[in-house]
This record gives sequence, C-alpha cells and structure tokens, in this order.
Amino acid sequence: MSTSKRQILVTSALPYANGSIHLGHLVEYIQTDIWVRFQKMQGHDCVYVCADDAHGTPIMLRAQNEGISPEELIARSDKEHQADFSDFNIGFDNFHSTHSPENRELVEYIYKQLNNSGHIETRTINQAYDPEKEMFLPDRFIKGTCPKCGAEDQYGDNCEVCGATYSPTELKNPVSAISGATPTEKESEHYFFKLGDFEPMLKTWIQGEHVQPEISRKLNEWFEAGLQAWDISRDAPYFGFEIPGAEGKFFYVWLDAPVGYMASFKNLCDKTEDLDFDSYWNKDSDYEVYHFIGKDIAYFHTLFWPAILAGAGFRTPTGVFCHGFLTVNGLKMSKSRGTFITARTYLDNLNPEYLRYYFAAKLGSGIEDLDLNLEDFQLRVNSDLVGKVVNIASRCAGFINKRFEGQLSAECAEPELYAQFAEARDKIADLYNKREFSHAVREIMALADKANQYIDEKKPWVLAKEDGKDDEVQQVCSMGINLFRALIIYLKPILPTMAEQSESFLNIEPLSWDDIATPLTDHTINKFKPLMTRVEKEKLDVIVESSKANLAQTSKAPKPVAKESKTEAVADHIEFDDFAKIDLRIARIVKAEHVEGADKLLQLTLDIGDETRNVFAGIKSAYAPEDLQGKLTVMVANLKPRKMRFGVSEGMVLAAGPGGKDLWILEPHEGAQPGMKVK
Ligand code: MSP
Ligand code: ZN
Repeated sequence: MSTSKRQILVTSALPYANGSIHLGHLVEYIQTDIWVRFQKMQGHDCVYVCADDAHGTPIMLRAQNEGISPEELIARSDKEHQADFSDFNIGFDNFHSTHSPENRELVEYIYKQLNNSGHIETRTINQAYDPEKEMFLPDRFIKGTCPKCGAEDQYGDNCEVCGATYSPTELKNPVSAISGATPTEKESEHYFFKLGDFEPMLKTWIQGEHVQPEISRKLNEWFEAGLQAWDISRDAPYFGFEIPGAEGKFFYVWLDAPVGYMASFKNLCDKTEDLDFDSYWNKDSDYEVYHFIGKDIAYFHTLFWPAILAGAGFRTPTGVFCHGFLTVNGLKMSKSRGTFITARTYLDNLNPEYLRYYFAAKLGSGIEDLDLNLEDFQLRVNSDLVGKVVNIASRCAGFINKRFEGQLSAECAEPELYAQFAEARDKIADLYNKREFSHAVREIMALADKANQYIDEKKPWVLAKEDGKDDEVQQVCSMGINLFRALIIYLKPILPTMAEQSESFLNIEPLSWDDIATPLTDHTINKFKPLMTRVEKEKLDVIVESSKANLAQTSKAPKPVAKESKTEAVADHIEFDDFAKIDLRIARIVKAEHVEGADKLLQLTLDIGDETRNVFAGIKSAYAPEDLQGKLTVMVANLKPRKMRFGVSEGMVLAAGPGGKDLWILEPHEGAQPGMKVK
C-alpha cells in the first residue's frame, strides 16, 4: 500500500429528521465508521461528516401533526440521532443539518451556477392537489384502488399487491392521505434540472471506476431508458429553502440533501484551522471524496449528484459506495415481529460493539443484502470475541499480574510466530481499504485461532505448577499478551471501545497500525478487567419484546398522516400469541369422498398419527377425491369442531394457491409423518 498521506473526506447518507435511527441505518453508519477509523489509523487525514436531512413534506406534516414547528421537530431529532450515533461509537468529525445557513448558501450558489449555465428550465405541470389542505400532493400522499388489480388502499405510484407502477391520475377512487378529500388537478410551474445535458460527462465518470460494477450496470440501464430532466422545485407550503427569485417555490428536499454533505464540511472548516473547503471541493482537487449510501438512493448519488457538482463547477466524487439492505432473521424488518429494532432499544440492552463486530463479519464491498440472524449473532459474538479474542488475554494476564508484577518478558519468546501476525498487516489493510470487512475478519480470526493454539500447546497453567519453570511461564504469557495486542490492532477499527480498554490494560498509548511491527517487551501492564461479556439470549428476547411494545405505543399515538416509509407498514397483523395458539399438524388423507349436495366440498378422513379426523374441505374444484388419497396436507388440529349441513368438521386443511383449479396439496414428502407438528 502507498505510504503517502492521503486527504480523504467521507460521508454517510443523511438520515431523515422524522424517524429514529434503526439497525438498518446502522449497517451504513457502522460500515462507514469502520472504514474511516481504519484510514485514520493509517495516519491519513480522513474527515467524516454527516447531518440530519431536515426538509420535505413528511417532516412538515409530521410537525403539524404533533403540533410543533418543523424547527422543534428537527432539533429533537438532531439530539436523539447524535446520542444514538455517539453511543454506537460512530465517530463523526461533524454532524450538522441541511436546515442550516451553510446549506442555504451553498444550494443557492449551486442553483445560480446551474441556472447561469442554462441547465435549468421551467415547465408547467399538472399535479394532484388537495383542495381541503390547499397543497399539492406528492404521489405517496395519495391513496386509492389499484387500476390493474383492484386492490384497495394503494399508494399513488405503485401497488403493493400486484406490483404495478402507474401515475396517481390512474388510481381509482383516489383520496388524499392527509385530509381524505378527493384530489383535484392543478397546474403549476416547476423548475427542472436538465440532466440530459450531462450524459457525456456522466458516461465518462462512470467508466472511471467511481462506482461498483453492479451500479455501473444499473447506470447503463438508466442511460438506455434516457435521462429525463429532474423536477427540483416544490410549491408552498413546503419545509425547505425558497428558490431565489421564485416566490412560493422551494427547492425539492433531494436537491439540498446531498449539498448537506458540503454544508456539514463547510461548517467544520469554519470551526477548524487547518481544513480548507476549496482544497477538497475545487474542480481540480486531487483530494478524495467518498459517499457511503444504501442501494435505494443510488440514482440520486450516481447521476444527479455528480451532474450537479460538475454543472456548478465543483469536483465530482472519487467514489460512491453502495451497500445492501438489512434483514432480520431472513425477513424485512417488521414492527409486528419485533425486528424493527431502533438503535436505542438495542443500546438499552446490549453492547454496541457486538453489533459492530457482527456487521463487519458480514459486510463485503458489494450491494447484496445482509441478514442479522439473532441466533447466529449470539453464537458468533460469543465464540469469536469472547471465546477467542478476549480469552487469550484472560488466560495470560493473571499469571503476568500475580507472578511477575505485571512485567512482560524482556524478549519475544517466539519471534517467528509473532512475525506471522505482523506480516498479515498488508493483507488485512488491503481488505479494509477495499471494504472487504468480512474477509478481513476471517483473516483476523484465523490468527486468533493460532494464538489460542499456541497457548493450548504451551499450557502455562501446567508450567506454573512445576518448579523452575517461572521464566517459561512469563515468556509464554508475554507472548500470548503480544498476540492479543496484535489482534486488537487489527480489530481496532471495528471495536474502538474494546481497543481503548485494551490499551489501558496494556498500559500503552493509542495503538496505530504501525505498532504491529514491534511487540511489547520489558513493559509493565495493568490489572486485567474482563473486556467483554457474553451475549445473553434473554437480552435478545427483551429487545424483540420491547420492539413489539414500541409498536403498541405508536399505534396508540395520534394517527400518522401518512406512512413515513413503506417498509414500516403494518396492516392487519395478528399477534404472535394468536399465531402460537394454532396447532398445525401434518395429516395423511386416508379417504376423500364426494359430499352429496355440495358443489365445493369434499369429505376427508385425516390421519394425524394418534387419531383420525373428519374434515369438510372446499377443494373440490381443484382435486378429484382419488387424487387426494394417500397425500399429505397441513391441518389446523385444534380448530373448534363446527357443525355443518353435512356433518361435523373437526379441523381445517391448508392448501395454497390462487383458488379454483389452482389449489395445491403437499406431495408426500420424505420425512413428514402424520401427526408431526408444523413449525
Ligand atoms: N435522507 C435520505 C438520504 C439523503 S443523503 C443526501 C435517506 N434517509 S434514510 O434515513 O431513509 O436512510 C439513510 C441511509 O440509511 C440510506 O443510505 C439508506 O439506504 C440506509 N438505510 C435505511 N434503511 C436501511 C436498511 N434496512 N438496511 C440498510 N440500509 C438502510 O434516504
Ligand atoms: Zn394492484
């Protein structure tokens, strides 16, 4: 790796000021923070800035709904977000707001530059309007019946049932999600950024390896679809910055949001002597600028943003790094499942470094989604961090403290073994630099295994009982401590708190990457205190339970004006307890018969292992009785018997499919036995 000092500016996407930070967000902030800490440890000048994204309709309405001003709402969020980030050890050099004087000045400047160079045009458009609330309605604030499949209560831009996309004017029976009024259409003049002007520039930019290969493929699709001019204005009432010279027109939140990166940095420059804004942002700057973002906002960061920067005479980003989305236990985070976990709920129960480690162990440089499996999380953290890393120190420190007054041996006992650890530095550094954190973690854990092997072989606890082996005990344990220190150097970007506690235990200055070159010899360490305890299953259960409780609280709160985000949607969920009441069993269909006088029903005799049941099932349209005999199905075994016209039904069978002829019963499946519980 190059040893020359780099000047790097890094950002994470700006969280919206109307919601709490949750574990999904933290994938990004933890990923960025690890990368930044790594660069700092290399001795580079690396500055990490962020801000709250404070503008837009949802924030304006949310504030109205709570009866406070938008300024009050964003001040509250700012406080909450900063506390969450700081408790997760996200080491921003500055955290600012898009609702700031710096941002207003920059966005006005950028707009004027674009306008002066002819990249802005105006056009009159027709838009949905809420006559009661007297405001234009963003697509997301219109609901109605899907024009394709007829599903009710769908958003103005797409249907969650059939997946169709359409324009709000196509919705049947549209209503405003704010007032319930039927929207009308109204004309308004809008300002557009002519993205098409930048097609050649963007095509060249993309070839320069500023984005990941997956994103560059996506960009080519976008190019093929054609670059449309981008609507950058919104009509009053709107919470944002008014467009200079255009009364009642505001900059769309997505125009001033990325400018917020620059504004936060500007705010920092104004507070710091040796940071110069222009050196980072002038169009010929050879300093590096990186944006970490989620894949949902790639379009804004890889098309609009570089084009706007270029159009306004600034440099373009060195890299835009996209990551995938977090799932919990294999599914989208869900409030009703208790997996929509806020940063605070997690922090109230568990050590933030567990999560930092777990994410690092799963993150690569690509854009695949990553899963937080709670059971795997517990196993992984306990076995790697507590079982392997901390264990090395706790096995060796006692002897050094008690027998040698904390004194490490004067020489490194196994220079070759130590060299193996030290030689890994470039490989691990390269992996960190390329954001291949999971690979880096694998390398580091392989070293931890080696260190444990060494101690297992030398058995200091046996030596300690033998006469005349004092020297050897000291040497072996000193070696162990040095291997532990090497691991901590490598893990420091991921585990800053554990590194700090280790530095104090080792009685040393903050570790830097270069410290790996020389082991500690003839040095006195401090008393060892346990560095990390095991993840307890109970804590995870509490987190899930309190996340469900959060849901109960929010549903008692005044009805939100519109969903903040579709991922949080909670429809007619049943409680887990309701589900748990259902006794699902595998049943063998012993007999299936027509029912005299019934068009839809078949009479089934089901074997559930210890008993047989008589069930009437409405699946005649899909199956002839002879096709069913001998097959397996899933049945609800504890449904209260129901008296029907044809007899008593003692349960219900489950079949899947759209209905009619397409209803499917399980094929007999190896391993499934009548009576088995379905989990
Ligand atoms: N305010 C915009 C970003 C403006 S940047 C100029 C925004 N905010 S957000 O709060 O919705 O998301 C902030 C970041 O968190 C985004 O990069 C987003 O992709 C990321 N994530 C939000 N939920 C996520 C997951 N479930 N998983 C991983 N990342 C997620 O978008
Ligand atoms: Zn539909």
